[in-house]
Amino acid sequence: MVDYCQQNEPIECVKNILKISESLGELKDIDAILDRILTESRRLSDADAGTIYLVKNDSLKFSYVQNDTLIKTGEVDKAVYSNISFTINDQSIVGYVAMKGRSLHIDDVYNIEPDMPFHFNPALDRSAGYKTTSMLTIPIKSSMGIVIGVIQIINPKEETGASIPFSKEAQTFLPIFANNASVAIDRGIMTRELVLRMIKMAELRDPSETGAHVQRVGAYSAEIYNKWALMHDVDEKERKHMKDLIRIAAMLHDVGKVGVSDMILKKPARLSDEEYAKMKFHTVYGARLFSNSTSELDALSGDIAINHHEKWDGTGYPGEINALHCDPKIGQPKKGEDIPLAARICALADVFDALSSKRAYKPPWPDDKILKMVTEESGSHFDPEVVDAFLAVFDIINAIREKYMENEDRNLECAFETRIDEQ
Ligand SMILES: [Fe+2]
Ligand SMILES: [Fe+2]
Repeated sequence: MVDYCQQNEPIECVKNILKISESLGELKDIDAILDRILTESRRLSDADAGTIYLVKNDSLKFSYVQNDTLIKTGEVDKAVYSNISFTINDQSIVGYVAMKGRSLHIDDVYNIEPDMPFHFNPALDRSAGYKTTSMLTIPIKSSMGIVIGVIQIINPKEETGASIPFSKEAQTFLPIFANNASVAIDRGIMTRELVLRMIKMAELRDPSETGAHVQRVGAYSAEIYNKWALMHDVDEKERKHMKDLIRIAAMLHDVGKVGVSDMILKKPARLSDEEYAKMKFHTVYGARLFSNSTSELDALSGDIAINHHEKWDGTGYPGEINALHCDPKIGQPKKGEDIPLAARICALADVFDALSSKRAYKPPWPDDKILKMVTEESGSHFDPEVVDAFLAVFDIINAIREKYMENEDRNLECAFETRIDEQ
């Protein structure tokens, strides 16, 4: 397909932009929103690649990337979780655009006018094995006119696959789309912050439930699901939709710990059988938080909360619960595919993160020891297909681990930390 805006009447192009902007409302998580914005910006201009940066304090934080040419190398999936940022000043192209608040179109980045304050850094192309030619960099502005980010798209392609400059239509219409998209970005950031605030409450009870831990578990679960869905030929729309929801729902896996007593959660010794039995109810309390709702996200969050300690071979908990609200009793454990897929995925993501993280009572396990354990537990603790998907995206899992590192200022050495997974 060649440049949608070039091939259609301007009115059709505007209508299309409005329709796409409206469809952003279906998405919940910020990563899914950025993925769709970049996909549509590239579709509208037929661009090969693109990146989104979001403003954080005085910097532009690298937030999302797509590249059709490099996708086959697997590097792009990892790069989504990079931690690069640029100071907002006129020394970089994205910084210049954020500072001026105006779009910038460059036909050939290797021949930028010498009087411009910025230049293109060819090292980026060299390290990626890519050749950037034309580039359109657009500020994303809120309804108040404040720049909240920058979209940079590169190398529009003609039908033969050759790179061409951006059309006049793309230069006119993409800034309109970018500004419309800012509402969705704001909402996605708010959703993520809201979830992290809920987690803060759980962290007060259990210091191992940190914001970094849940962001890792959410991202691991999203990427494991994505791979599982690709392995099962799940249709792309459904795959992206579920990937969006599972990230948020998995972040909330242990939010039910707010219902468990501090005496148990912070007990500086092994739990008695009776205390451990009470601890198991954090799954039920979590599910209660999401019951009585018709939202798909709430249903998935409830599924994960109640089932994330079930095991594939039927030795987990809490099993079938007779009644969620009135005097629930721990039931017969679920097994195999009776456990919802999202919970089977989150179970592996959560255990992997616990083992690969430092705790007061243990250093992080080395990767080879964790991978050996995960492989040995495939078919007993974990769903074998989920293990296969996890191993296939292990590079991305590593990139996620680096992106969401624990804040070392936090008192990780809390002497009262207790882990239920090791009971
Ligand atoms: Fe849990
Ligand atoms: Fe957890």
